[in-house]
This record gives sequence, structure tokens and C-alpha cells, in this order.
Amino acid sequence: MHLVAKSFAAFTALGSLASALPKSTPPAYNATSNTTACQPKVILDNDWSPAGFIPYLQALSAGWEVLGLVSDTANSWALQTGLHALATLEVGDLGCIPVYLGSDYPLLNTPKLFQAWEYVHGVLPWEGAFAPENLTAEAEGSDPTSGNPKRISRAAFTEGFPNITAQSDMSAAEFMVQQVRKYPGEVSIYSAGALTNIALAVRMDPSFASNAKELVIMGGYIDVNLLQTTGSVLLADLNSDINLMIDPEASKIAFTADFPNITFAGNVANQVMSTQSFLNELHEVVNPYTDLIYNYYGTQFPFWDETAAALMLDPSLALNSTSFYVDVDTSYASPSYGNIHAYQKALAPRGQDLKKVNYVLEIDEAGLKAQIKKAVQQPPTCADLSR
Ligand SMILES: *[C@@H]1O[C@H](CO)[C@@H](O)[C@H](O)[C@H]1NC(C)=O
Ligand SMILES: *[C@@H]1O[C@H](CO)[C@@H](O)[C@H](O)[C@H]1NC(C)=O
Ligand SMILES: *[C@@H]1O[C@H](CO)[C@@H](O)[C@H](O)[C@H]1NC(C)=O
Ligand SMILES: *[C@@H]1O[C@H](CO)[C@@H](O)[C@H](O)[C@H]1NC(C)=O
Ligand SMILES: *[C@@H]1O[C@H](CO)[C@@H](O)[C@H](O)[C@H]1NC(C)=O
Ligand SMILES: *[C@@H]1O[C@H](CO)[C@@H](O)[C@H](O)[C@H]1NC(C)=O
Repeated sequence: MHLVAKSFAAFTALGSLASALPKSTPPAYNATSNTTACQPKVILDNDWSPAGFIPYLQALSAGWEVLGLVSDTANSWALQTGLHALATLEVGDLGCIPVYLGSDYPLLNTPKLFQAWEYVHGVLPWEGAFAPENLTAEAEGSDPTSGNPKRISRAAFTEGFPNITAQSDMSAAEFMVQQVRKYPGEVSIYSAGALTNIALAVRMDPSFASNAKELVIMGGYIDVNLLQTTGSVLLADLNSDINLMIDPEASKIAFTADFPNITFAGNVANQVMSTQSFLNELHEVVNPYTDLIYNYYGTQFPFWDETAAALMLDPSLALNSTSFYVDVDTSYASPSYGNIHAYQKALAPRGQDLKKVNYVLEIDEAGLKAQIKKAVQQPPTCADLSR
């Protein structure tokens, strides 16, 4: 996900790190209960936010086993986004799903390097975790940006501050490596934030990518430069690729790894906008999740992450797709640093082993909305999952 609607809660100022850390532990997760040999498995890696939970509800609703959620640094720092994952699980009694905190920093990028790049190549309308630090905005409900990555902005937890804690026995990348070793060929890796953890997993274990089932990502816009100039700043925002640009080197490592299948929800992720009438329709069934969506999802942005999740769960929703060999520009001196470049086979570079990826161009809008509606109106709880 990128730019999320700012929310302003009546929480007080930042607590110290120690007092802010939640104390209790979720009940043990029994991943073997209610699993059948054919139940697909997924790990969802995202920069979670107060209304950013729909993708994991989509997966649960489709009967997939959510092995765990992983946080990354993209919209905000990985600690803050991981706490949002915990909080949104907790509000729906889904705290049995484990959360692993991702890497604080991208492989190379830092706020200073990113801001220096912007000075030369132009400012992104949404700078995610690399926006300049603004403690006033944080006190008013924004997630932390720049500064100390271990800083928590409690005012941003409009969904409630979590009382359950992230798993502390291993990092997000280690968790992904462990699960793919445990279930070779079965685990889909879903990424709707930066690719840092996935790149770390790829480098940590040379068999990680080839033993995963697939990689499905939100991001990878192509041929959108004109849209960045001919409309509003918001239109430019919708067509900027913060997920990949936060960590260009990790994006390249992930997309050139040996995943058996890589699917991009890039331009298609902008197709279906959130509208008030759809939010009203979702809220016809009132539960903690439809409440959060109704209050905080907003109508400014498309269903980015939900589009990527829907295409993973039901590939038949793709109405028009293409495929191409993909590279990521990792030249810091380039204005497209962190953006993709596509090739047909005949013209693909011979000096590197680029991978062919599926690139969806159009999604079945009614099918996407039906999937979202079922997921948020009938969410399971841990009691259902351990039946
Ligand atoms: C997990 O669930 C399975 C199937 O219901 C059960 O056989 C097993 O004993 C459970 N394991 C634990 C540790 O509760
Ligand atoms: C297992 O989970 C699926 C999806 O949540 C659910 O439809 C099914 O009823 C569950 N099976 C049992 C035996 O509880
Ligand atoms: C954690 O517990 C507090 C106190 O009961 C509550 O106000 C808060 O909403 C809870 N957090 C979540 C995410 O449910
Ligand atoms: C910091 O955030 C506040 C509140 O949103 C805003 O009024 C102010 O302009 C921001 N400061 C900078 C330097 O952007
Ligand atoms: C790869 O993913 C695409 C898009 O989800 C799907 O249509 C296709 O069947 C998959 N291919 C394989 C070999 O699994
Ligand atoms: C699929 O998308 C391409 C690129 O936008 C377009 O040229 C083509 O007409 C589309 N095909 C269909 C069947 O809609």
C-alpha cells in the first residue's frame, strides 16, 4: 500500500519505547489444525495500517492458510507497520496469526539518501517512511517518517494500540525462509510494501525463491510518466511506485530470483477506486473490520493491495494480462531509480538473467468487489481457524 488517509485520533503524546511495547502474548498458533493437503498457504508482507487489513481477510475468506504476517518499511517504519498488523488482528480476534517484524532499513537506502536523490531528480508526492520527520504530524495521528526507526507514534493507532506482541524468536526474513523450507512448493509470498525482507530471504537461502510457490506483488507501474505531469499531484501520486522505490536494490534481487511464478499488480492496481457507495455497502454488516474501513479507508485511493491479493487468490479475475522480462533501475543517478523496465525476449539483456513476469492489465471489478465484501463482512476469528 502507499499513501494512506491521515487519521487523527484522540490519543496522547508518544510513550517511551519501553512503556509503549505491548506485554501479553497471543495464544499459540496451531498451523496444523484445519489444514488439508490442498489448503494454499501464504505469508503476507506489507506496510500495515489501520484499514490495511483487507488482504489477509481476503486470503482467510478464500480458505487459504495465513502462515503469518510480516511487516516492512515503506509507508512508515517496519516496527510501526508491524504494530498495525498486530492491532488489526487483535480487533477481529485473529491474534493467533503470528506477526514478524521486518527489517527497519532498506538494503542501502536511507531517508538522507532518498531526500538527496529527490533534490536532484524531483520530489515524490508520497515519500512514505522517507518523508521528513514531523513530530507535530505524528502527534496528530501520522505514522512516523524518517528519524529513529524504533520510534512509535501511538496517535496513529486509530484501530487501538495492540495488546499482543510480535514474535521475537526470529526476523521476518528468517520466518519466510523457515516456512518455505517446511512447506516446499506450497507457500505464496505476497508483497504489498517494499521488497526488503524478501530480498534478505532470497540471499539468506539460495533455495528460498525456487521452493516458494510464487511471488505476487503490488507495484511495478509502467509507462506512467505522462500521468505524472498531465493531472493533479494526486494523479502523480497514484502513479508513483513508492513500494519499489523505497528499496530499489531489494526489488531487483526479488524480481531476479528463481520464484517459479511472479505476478505484478502494477497499473491494474489503480483500476478500481474506493467509493463512498461501496464503503456504505460494506458497512451494511457492522463488525470491527467494516467499522474501520468505513471510518478510515477513505475514497481518495484505489484498492491497491486488495487488487494484488485478489489476483493471487483467484487468477481468473485477471481479464487481460501480458508477460515480459523485467529489470529494476538500480542506478542512484537515474530519475527512474527504483522503477521497472520491461523487455520482450528477443531484446532482453544478455548480460543478466532477468525473469519473465506476469503483468496483469485489467481486473474483473465486480469480482474484486465481491471478494472484498465477503472477506470483510464475514471475517473468521481464531476460534473458526482452529476448528
Ligand atoms: C493442532 O491441531 C491438530 C488438528 O486439530 C491437532 O491434532 C494437534 O494436536 C494440535 N496441536 C497442538 C499443539 O495443539
Ligand atoms: C476450515 O476453514 C475453512 C476456511 O476458513 C472453513 O470454511 C471450514 O469450515 C473449516 N473446516 C472445519 C472442519 O472447520
Ligand atoms: C488493547 O487494550 C486496550 C485496553 O483494554 C484497548 O483500549 C485497546 O483498544 C486494545 N487494543 C486493540 C488493538 O484492541
Ligand atoms: C508538519 O505537520 C503539520 C501537521 O500536519 C503541518 O501543519 C506542517 O506543515 C508540517 N511541517 C512541515 C515542515 O511539513
Ligand atoms: C502463475 O500465476 C499466474 C497469475 O496468477 C497464473 O495465471 C498462472 O496459472 C500461474 N502459473 C503457474 C505455472 O502456476
Ligand atoms: C489488453 O490490454 C492492452 C494494453 O492496454 C490492449 O492493447 C488490449 O486491447 C487489451 N485487450 C483486451 C482484450 O482488452
